[in-house]
Amino acid sequence: MTTIDKSGEKHNLMTNDYFWPMKRYQDMHKRSIDDPEGFWAEQAGALAWDKPWDKVLDWKPPYGRWFTGGKLNACVQCVDRHAMSQKSSKVAIYWEGETGDTRTISYADLLHDVNRFAAVLKKLGVQKGDRVAIYLPMIPELVTAMLACARIGAIHCVIFSGFSAQAISDRVNDSNAKLIITASGGYRRGKILALKGIVDDAVAMCPSIEKVLVVKYTDHEPNINPDKDIWLSDVLNDSDNAVVAPESMDATDPLFILYTSGTTGKPKGILHGTAGYMLYASKTLQWAFNPSDDSIYWCTADAGWITGHSYLVYAPLALGLTSVIYEGAPDYPAIDRWWQIIEKYRVSIFYTSPTAIRMFMRNGEEWLAKHDLSSLQVMGSVGEAINPEAWRWYYKYIGYENCPIIDTWWQTETGGFMIAPCAGIQSYPLKPGSATLPMPGVDPVVLDADGNEAAPNKTGFIAIRKPWPGMLLDVYGNPDLYQKTYWSRFPGYYAPGDYSMKDADGYWWLLGRADEVIKVSGHRISTAELEHAVVGHSAVAEAAAAAKPDEVKGEAIVLFVILRNDHVGSVELQKEIIKYMRTAIGTVATPDDVIFVDKLPKTRSGKIMRRVLKAVAAGTSIGDITTLDDQTSVEEVMVAYEELKVAAAKSNNG
Ligand code: WT7
Repeated sequence: MTTIDKSGEKHNLMTNDYFWPMKRYQDMHKRSIDDPEGFWAEQAGALAWDKPWDKVLDWKPPYGRWFTGGKLNACVQCVDRHAMSQKSSKVAIYWEGETGDTRTISYADLLHDVNRFAAVLKKLGVQKGDRVAIYLPMIPELVTAMLACARIGAIHCVIFSGFSAQAISDRVNDSNAKLIITASGGYRRGKILALKGIVDDAVAMCPSIEKVLVVKYTDHEPNINPDKDIWLSDVLNDSDNAVVAPESMDATDPLFILYTSGTTGKPKGILHGTAGYMLYASKTLQWAFNPSDDSIYWCTADAGWITGHSYLVYAPLALGLTSVIYEGAPDYPAIDRWWQIIEKYRVSIFYTSPTAIRMFMRNGEEWLAKHDLSSLQVMGSVGEAINPEAWRWYYKYIGYENCPIIDTWWQTETGGFMIAPCAGIQSYPLKPGSATLPMPGVDPVVLDADGNEAAPNKTGFIAIRKPWPGMLLDVYGNPDLYQKTYWSRFPGYYAPGDYSMKDADGYWWLLGRADEVIKVSGHRISTAELEHAVVGHSAVAEAAAAAKPDEVKGEAIVLFVILRNDHVGSVELQKEIIKYMRTAIGTVATPDDVIFVDKLPKTRSGKIMRRVLKAVAAGTSIGDITTLDDQTSVEEVMVAYEELKVAAAKSNNG
């Protein structure tokens, strides 16, 4: 296939056998690195400022503060400036519920809804700087609630609606939120998820929560506690035509906290700011996906994750795009639900995950053949590296060999894309499985274990040399953890924690986490968190978690469990522990296997030999153990490996 480059030249995206002029991209990237302040000052005109900034970047490592002295409001970027322009009747959101309900929301409607919601928050006593927890299904109120918080300067803390009561309370207690917004329930594969009931269990453990604001959505009656619970519909009516003036925020004021897994047993609150984040999220969307005014944009992520924050809510709205938001499961009521949606709304930009692509791949092309997907122009991928096989399938059967695949490498912490093809700057050749080249403003390097720059084609650790506007402000309430996690592994560099390799053409290959974080369907979960949770089960004495490769999910969780003396392993107990993990953390923590063992492979100093666990979980050989970084002998490792293998085989047969 060919693509017409912005320069008017024709190119084949998949051939590398002639030289492509990549000058526009290269010049822009070079300028962004040579003069970041000048570069970002030029870009910052894309935002609507109440007051211009004094300084583009205040860099006091490890803290980068962007556009200090400037004032603006994030909600105004996303709503007011479009609603107050000739775009006011433009559709902001086409919402499609799982049951087939739909809602069409223009920018003018969105302004109305956000104002009313903001008035409710104010009436409930929420003030600038307060934290508000949001636990909602993918309904328009989720977007409205986030924007209403932004409007009044409250810091939202969205908790993915698949998390358990315990997980909610951990996040609420860490952020000290005083209000939680939820719904009676949500729909998932035709069933009602009783979200309000889960919030009740959580709130019982959350002393900071004063009120629970409930959106009436599903047809069932949750328990209502008259002292604490408020139906949104009751308070909305009072403030029908309310107008709430947007709070003029400092550029560096926090916008939200989003919890993510690290290597400790507790998730950490990633704190993002206002101007830098808004600018970075919207510019990167523009550069990577090349949207135009008539694009129909669909990001399939849930707003409970960073992809939803940046590329479902803030960036597409800041750019004034028309988005599709779908509430439900991709395979409900049938496996072609997504293709129906693309056909129905004529989606032109589609952004999803490798795990979804692999699920569709497994179900076969015949589901796609029933639908006309020719509206698609650009397609994205995020969450983990996309394997070349899935990449080619995506390219061929969904994109009809016509759409570049924008593989976006980034993290909750980075706020926006770091490495991704820049179709909005200049088309250039793609390589299936590579996220290609850094975004403007991003200066990555591959370092070896000693912190020296690695040669081309050598695997090492990716590190980022300079601050960028989307970078996190801090770990909420834990600056030491911020410094230690991101800035101490290679002093002076931001350390994302991924393995990576840069090839001879300068293309980047992201090779997975280098730490104890597992990626299940693109979602982060740490082994420590899993281990911490499972020992809460009354039969479990000790446990260790590992990942095994999974054809669809990328990685799946395997738990090695030592039972207390008065318990014996059984299939029932395995099932019970799997169920327990769902209530202890949520659906993301569901193990595929629970393996009962008598002992865990440990070094003499008591550290779990994770490589041994991993090899047994994956059913592979222990491989090269000469570089084990502890004092354990090769023989000891081999013994531990053989013992664990035998125990696992026994556990699987019992
Ligand atoms: C980790 C961040 C960023 C939004 C969704 C996940 C992995 C993410 C890619 C990609 C290779 C990727 C990395 C990263 N990752 N996208 N395109 N290629 N790896 O956000 O939960 O913060 O996870 O996801 O390992 O460190 P997250």
